[in-house]
Amino acid sequence: MIRVGLIGAGFMGSMHSNVYGLIPDAKLVAVCDLDRKRAEELAQSHGAKVYTDADELLHDDALNLDLVDICLPTLLHTEYALKAAKLGFNILCEKPFTLDLESADQIIAATEEAQVEIMVGQCIRFWPEYQYLKEAVEKKTFGEVQGAWFSRLSPLPTWGWENWLLDPARSGGAAFDMHIHDTDFILYLLGKPQAVTSRGVIDQYGMSHISTQYQYDDLMVVGECGWNYPQSFPFKMQYRVICQQAVISFDGTDLVVYPYDADAYKVELAKEATEGGASSGNISDLGGYFNEIKYYIDCLSQNQSPQTVTAESAKQSVAVTLAELESVKTGITIIL
Ligand SMILES: NC(=O)c1ccc[n+]([C@@H]2O[C@H](COP(=O)([O-])OP(=O)(O)OC[C@H]3O[C@@H](n4cnc5c(N)ncnc54)[C@H](O)[C@@H]3O)[C@@H](O)[C@H]2O)c1
Repeated sequence: MIRVGLIGAGFMGSMHSNVYGLIPDAKLVAVCDLDRKRAEELAQSHGAKVYTDADELLHDDALNLDLVDICLPTLLHTEYALKAAKLGFNILCEKPFTLDLESADQIIAATEEAQVEIMVGQCIRFWPEYQYLKEAVEKKTFGEVQGAWFSRLSPLPTWGWENWLLDPARSGGAAFDMHIHDTDFILYLLGKPQAVTSRGVIDQYGMSHISTQYQYDDLMVVGECGWNYPQSFPFKMQYRVICQQAVISFDGTDLVVYPYDADAYKVELAKEATEGGASSGNISDLGGYFNEIKYYIDCLSQNQSPQTVTAESAKQSVAVTLAELESVKTGITIIL
């Protein structure tokens, strides 16, 4: 049984808490939030202990924690990941890993020194429609990839604690908060690009819209993300991947394969019972989060290091996102 202490009981903490309730090998034993009511709400159904000071949670030996789950605003990831590692706890850290490479290096060094595991919540690697794509590309089900387009659009996220999402110093703007999902998945699917060329809109909330061309040999890959959409615009994540024999398309709802020499067909994915997301934010299905956390709990239960997301791969996604920002700011292509 993996005993979990959760720090941060907002949108993502609520998702994670719901997932722990679905995993028999994990037990949520402690929840911390500056806002006691939020922590209490999540702790209740698990019979978990409530904290308003994360240091108290981390130093409560009676909890006998195996895993510290960090669902704090992004700027706080480094401080609490370092504390958790130094105390010998395995870590699940929400994405983005960090906002700069030095912090990622410090965390990686601390986890290696303490010999603890860390996984970053790059949940798209576990999202069923994206898992389908990864497998199809790996197995060359429809031949080689010739081009790919990924998109992630949202109204301005105004639900964060103290509006931290709209403070680029704390969230990194849409580039780090949303777009990194697609950057990370593109790296996972196709490897590291040779270069990135990005254009974007920078406003008072940071990089609020970004479009990047990821340069590969003989391959055209584009990723676009914006959170500068009206409140009436529904959150949407989508992709289209052109392979030699078919186009695979996910429009945010339906996953459809369009073969060049046959009729199109909808792919029905088997999903576990994962309804019941968080009460705010933009995603209500637990699917990808369930797969992600279940995978990590299984790794920890079997004393194995996670392979689907490594700390180095999460750091590389931070590095490429930083290069994209540099490209927007300088107007030039950044060689990686
Ligand atoms: N994987 C995904 O799809 C996804 C989606 C949304 C957010 N996230 C990430 O999850 C993290 C959290 O985002 P969120 O949307 O849950 O934010 P949120 O604002 O909804 O929740 C943050 C919570 O942290 C609490 N908090 C702040 N400082 C604290 C401290 N020092 N000690 C204890 N509690 C503290 C706040 O009170 C709040 O309840 C971010 O890194 C974000 O990028 C990931």
